[in-house]
Amino acid sequence: MTTNSEISLPGMKVSIIGASTTTFGELWDVSPRALAREVVIGAMKDAGIMPQDIGALFVGNMLSGMLGSQEHLGAFFAEELGFHGAAAFKIEGACASGSLALHNAVNAIISGQYETVAVLGVEKMTDHRPEDVATALMGAGSSQERAAGCTFPGLYAILARVHMQEYGTTREDLAAVAVKNHFHASLNPHSQFKKPITMEAVLRSHAVADPLTLLDCSPISDGAAALVLTSDKRQATRDKKPISIIASCVSTDSLGLAQRDSLTELKATKDAATRAYKIAALSVKDIDLIELHDCFTIAELLALEDLGVTKKGDAAGLLRRGAFTLGRAPHVVVNPSGGLKGCGHPIGATGVKQVVEIVEQLRGAAGARQVSGARVGLAHNVGGTGATAVVHILAR
Ligand code: COA
Repeated sequence: MTTNSEISLPGMKVSIIGASTTTFGELWDVSPRALAREVVIGAMKDAGIMPQDIGALFVGNMLSGMLGSQEHLGAFFAEELGFHGAAAFKIEGACASGSLALHNAVNAIISGQYETVAVLGVEKMTDHRPEDVATALMGAGSSQERAAGCTFPGLYAILARVHMQEYGTTREDLAAVAVKNHFHASLNPHSQFKKPITMEAVLRSHAVADPLTLLDCSPISDGAAALVLTSDKRQATRDKKPISIIASCVSTDSLGLAQRDSLTELKATKDAATRAYKIAALSVKDIDLIELHDCFTIAELLALEDLGVTKKGDAAGLLRRGAFTLGRAPHVVVNPSGGLKGCGHPIGATGVKQVVEIVEQLRGAAGARQVSGARVGLAHNVGGTGATAVVHILAR
């Protein structure tokens, strides 16, 4: 086990000094502007800085153009937040939009052009008809998949079927992910779903895309999350202990499943994670908690295997025995926030919220869901069925 002092930070000189999230859920009476204001002002307050300190704003969002007819989100939110004259960018990478925005923010600081920047992830989905949301989400798939009438639950159901055939994974194994993540969500005041669920409830909930049921799916959600990042130089003048980003890696693969060599792994996750471990100079065994992309229960199994937490085919058995749950040492705790499954999945906000959760955990401020002694956390965010994967590693 590497201790914190032994972790080298090659090339990475970025600290997170502010973090904030809204509660996720069906937020009918709140606008995207109000969501953004809540979290960006919250993160700036946390950081102890003013709007004029922000040199650039990075906005992660997928659907505002398709569903809300509002593009040009960089300038839109810069104006709203009083970042007059700051550089502002919208970053889109499907469900990975939020963490891609963070990746760009990290690189902007490393470039030396900006000292302090804000990252905002925001999405408003529940104001729209479910069929319009499903169609808009399929903008992240390939044209063949759209022409064939596929939806994301359907595409992940294909991945689940293949995993079942190749590794003997069962419906119960998938359901164990939902049970664990809804339990964690029940401890999170910001989650969409606050009640624990049983395995029986998952198995008996209605089919969405066989073998996936309603409770195997992440929901349609509204929400926002924000971070304030600064250079090490600026951090050095502050009293508060920083959280360091020690790796930020992105990898891509084919948009469509038909072009993949394997349907039991997401190659982009493997690539991004391998590079992140190398840059951070640590191994998966050094990670105390993981916020990973469980848009559907099968996605958590795939991610556990592709991030190297378990060997291929081994995640299911461990999940069934209750591993990766809070308080169940010795395994790493996975999705203490409740994940996408229990905390909710407002697309562009998710990747930023994952990092807000890790910041709270590393500060020891996660309350009832605190991972004891957490020093190193990993965030894993996926766009589409694995066309984009982003891995961040954070340390205190
Ligand atoms: N998990 C748990 N509960 C859920 C849920 C979910 N994913 N989705 C809805 N619910 C609950 C609702 O809160 C509601 O409960 P209530 O009756 O107590 O209020 C009930 O189930 C019915 O909700 P409804 O909105 O009518 O469900 P739906 O059938 O229209 O939609 C899904 C369910 C699974 C189809 C929808 O959530 C979905 O499309 N999820 C996937 C989103 C997606 O593809 N994201 C991108 C990932 S790559």
